[in-house]
Amino acid sequence: MNKIAVYPGSFDPVTLGHLDIIRRSNVLFDHIVVAVLNNSKKHPLFSVDERKTMLEEATKDFKHVTIDSFDGLLVNYLKKTNISIIIRGLRAITDFEYELQIASVNKHLCHSAETCFIMSTNEFAFLSSSIVKEIAQNGGDVSSLVPNVTCHALQEKMFVC
Ligand code: PNS
Repeated sequence: MNKIAVYPGSFDPVTLGHLDIIRRSNVLFDHIVVAVLNNSKKHPLFSVDERKTMLEEATKDFKHVTIDSFDGLLVNYLKKTNISIIIRGLRAITDFEYELQIASVNKHLCHSAETCFIMSTNEFAFLSSSIVKEIAQNGGDVSSLVPNVTCHALQEKMFVC
């Protein structure tokens, strides 16, 4: 039986940290659906379509990955797709409280939902989309932190890289 999991997130934009989690999750799951949250309230830098396009390009060599998006509650997306496993990356102890909260809320809303945490490699333990945007917005070099497609997209948005 194929083991399928969803890796939800904002991915605004996708970083090498996200790609590391996607790549390593293949050890545990046969197929990963990377699901981009359509979170207009968060005022993302990139539209959902732009984020999906970046993810598609960055994961094009991964055979076990498809890219999708969702609105509203993650548990509704789980029910719609018949997936029960959620993958989340854990970077540092500071992530733990927030991740425990959303895993517990999802479990409360959907009893079959199970969250599987994958520890970030040390190399990417400090990395986040917000940090990447802050560096880029201030003219810094993010080429060692993001895939080429993100670098080019940031370049187009704010003339950096
Ligand atoms: O990359 P992020 O922003 O840390 O991802 C957070 C995400 C998308 C996993 C979380 O905000 C989410 O699932 N949002 C959908 C709304 C929802 O289901 N909320 C209840 C659990 S917090």
